[in-house]
Amino acid sequence: AQDKRESLYVLSQWAGKFFKQHLWETDSGKAIALSYFKERGYRDDIIKKFDLGYSPDQWTALVDAAKKDGFQESYLSDIGLAIERDDKSLYDRFRGRVIFPIHNLTGRIIGFGGRTLKTEKSTPKYVNSPESEIYHKSDVLYGLNHAKKAVMDADLCYLVEGYADVIAMHQAGVENVVSSSGTSLTTGQIKLISRFTKNVVILYDGDAAGIKASLRGTDMLLEEGLNVKVLLFPDGNDPDSYIKQVGSSAFIAYIAAHQEDFIFYKTNILLKDAKDDPIKRAEVIRDVVESIALIPDEIKVSVFIRQCSSLLDIEERVLLTELNKIRINKAKAQ
Ligand code: GTP
Ligand code: MN
Ligand code: MN
Ligand code: MN
Ligand code: MN
Repeated sequence: AQDKRESLYVLSQWAGKFFKQHLWETDSGKAIALSYFKERGYRDDIIKKFDLGYSPDQWTALVDAAKKDGFQESYLSDIGLAIERDDKSLYDRFRGRVIFPIHNLTGRIIGFGGRTLKTEKSTPKYVNSPESEIYHKSDVLYGLNHAKKAVMDADLCYLVEGYADVIAMHQAGVENVVSSSGTSLTTGQIKLISRFTKNVVILYDGDAAGIKASLRGTDMLLEEGLNVKVLLFPDGNDPDSYIKQVGSSAFIAYIAAHQEDFIFYKTNILLKDAKDDPIKRAEVIRDVVESIALIPDEIKVSVFIRQCSSLLDIEERVLLTELNKIRINKAKAQ
C-alpha cells in the first residue's frame, strides 16, 4: 500500500510537469492558457511559483502520454486524472482547462483544480480532483505549503474562497493566505491552521454566497479557540478582483482597515435582516449569544457580552442570563 501511495505521488508530480509543459511550451498553451493568466494579471514568477499549467483540449492527451511513460492505467483513474468509460477506456478529466495543482504541506502535488476558459454558464467553472488515497479534501488547505512561514511570522492567517485569490494576494505581497477551495471549512482544516496561528481573518467574496459562507463554519473556528475576524469586499468583489480593481497597496490598506471581529460582524448582519421586528431581534440575540458561548476564553466572553449589549441595545444582565442558559443546556447534553 505504501508503494502504491508513492506511485500515486510520482504520477501526480509527473502530471503537474505535463500540464506545465503544455502551458509554457506548446503553441495552444501559450495562445490560450498563458495569455489567459496574463490577462488575469499574473506575473511569470507567480505562475511558476504555483506550478500553474494547462491541460490540452483533447480527449486523451494526458492518458496517452502517461501510458507512453509507463504509468499503470488504473492509477490514472485512482487519482482522477482520467475518467473511465463504460468500455473501460480512459479519457482526460481536465480537457481544455487551466490547471491549479494542489500541494500538501511538504509541497508534493496531491490533486488539481481545473478552470474552464469558456464563458458559457453550462460548463462548470472549476473541476477538481476527486478524493483519493493521496488527496483528502477535508484535510487540505490550498496554498498552505507556500503560506506556512508567513502565517507563523505574522501570527495571522487570511482565509479566502478561491485558488485565484490565494495567488493574487501572493502577487500583491500578502503571503499568509490559504483557501478552503469553495467547500465549507472542516475541523481538519481548522486544526491545521491552528498549528500555525490562532488568528484568522476571513476574506470571503462580497456576494450572497460569500456572506452565507462567512456565517457558516465559523462556529467551529470559535470552538477551536481561534480569534476570528471577517471582512467583505464591496460590490461583490473577491480578493483577486479587488486587487485588480484598486491595486496592491490600496488592497493592503483596505484589509488592514476593515477587519471586524466575527461576533460584531455577525451581530450587525443579523440585525440588518431583523430590522425592528421584536421577534426577529430576540432570535438575533439568542443566535449571537450562542456563538459567544462557544468561545473557551472567559475574558473574551465578557468583553463580547459587554460590547454586544450595546450593539443589540439590551442589558448585559439579559445576555448573561441567556449565556448561562445555553451553557447549562450544553452541560446537560454532555
Ligand atoms: P475565478 O472566476 O477564477 O476568479 O474563480 P473564483 O475562485 O473567484 O470562484 P468562485 O468565487 O466562484 O468560487 C470559489 C471557489 O469555489 C473556487 O476557487 C473553486 O475552488 C470553487 N468552485 C467554484 N466554482 C466551482 C464549480 O463549478 N465546481 C466546483 N467543484 N468548485 C467550484
Ligand atoms: Mn478523506
Ligand atoms: Mn463567489
Ligand atoms: Mn470568487
Ligand atoms: Mn475570482
